[in-house]
Amino acid sequence: MKMRVLGIETSCDETGIALYDSKNGLIAHHIFSQESHQAYGGVVPELASRDHVHKVIPMIQTLLDETQLTINDIEGIAYTAGPGLAGALLVGATVAKGLAFALNIPSIGVHHLEGHLLAPMLEEERPCFPFLALLVSGGHTQLIKVTALGEYDILGESLDDAAGEAFDKTAKLLGLPYPGGPHLAALAKQGTPCFKLPRPLLAHGLDFSFSGLKTAVSQLIAKSPNDEQTKANIAASFEQAVVDTLIVKAVRAMEQIGFDQLVIAGGVGANLHLRQSMTALGKEKGFQIFYPRPSFCTDNGAMIAYAGCQRLLAGEQTHDLQVRARWPLDELCPPARILNAY
Ligand code: KG4
Ligand code: ZN
Repeated sequence: MKMRVLGIETSCDETGIALYDSKNGLIAHHIFSQESHQAYGGVVPELASRDHVHKVIPMIQTLLDETQLTINDIEGIAYTAGPGLAGALLVGATVAKGLAFALNIPSIGVHHLEGHLLAPMLEEERPCFPFLALLVSGGHTQLIKVTALGEYDILGESLDDAAGEAFDKTAKLLGLPYPGGPHLAALAKQGTPCFKLPRPLLAHGLDFSFSGLKTAVSQLIAKSPNDEQTKANIAASFEQAVVDTLIVKAVRAMEQIGFDQLVIAGGVGANLHLRQSMTALGKEKGFQIFYPRPSFCTDNGAMIAYAGCQRLLAGEQTHDLQVRARWPLDELCPPARILNAY
């Protein structure tokens, strides 16, 4: 069986629209990154919802025009149902449900993090189950044992700030614009990691903690000269501390469960230093490492179309219009089990 699925991502400040075909792969995708939040130094939920309202339908139309398809060529619709900003999620869910109802096709609410951790499946070099996923985004830092679609076992996670959140907060301390991660990474390239910063919880276990690191950076900034080179050195030292921590924990988890495939997913997965360091370590340890392309590490519609397509093909669909601002990943089930439950 094959299916052509429209993916809609509206969980935060990116509108992502994509068309995925289970036989021929990704047909096309577009991402619109909202800029209306920059003046506020963080995402303003109401502005995010409004921007999604303006963008979702025109972006679907553009995608169809570009691919010379019509609305009737869509066979299923996948939308992000959570976790995320409730209002923003509702925009995508409402468009998806309305369209699916009008076209008489199935629709499915996708878990945003399931989208992220399956994103490498959109690449030519893709993992097969089982694998370990290091999910590093703005809201989450988790090590997940992935045995099958919907079978996710969280082995470790951040006890406080997520890695992306730490990047964003540290970037703010350094006077960089929002979202700070990519700006901080660019500044770090100009510096050397010469400052000693803490690597909390490094010695034991699989959990993470990044809030102490951010505090240490704030103290370091307070006592350092305010020149560009010092700022770049602080950025490089911060990035090094995060990358070291992520690598040590990921390797510890890999060795604990005895897997040989590691997936790096989520926005921080776009970080070049992290990718290069992980690749080098993978070679040394004999792990195969898989990354989505950088534009599929951050939020996008393609990962939602892909994840939704897998579940739609397995016969699953969502009948209500509920979205979930909070939705623990390990509440998900494989599709077959959900089917049996009906
Ligand atoms: O996955 P994502 O797009 O959204 C969430 O689901 O949270 O991740 C966004 C996070 C932000 O914190 C952003 O600063 C960070 O990913 N990020 C990066 C880079 N690109 C995005 N952090 C470090 N280096 C990057 N190159
Ligand atoms: Zn995300």
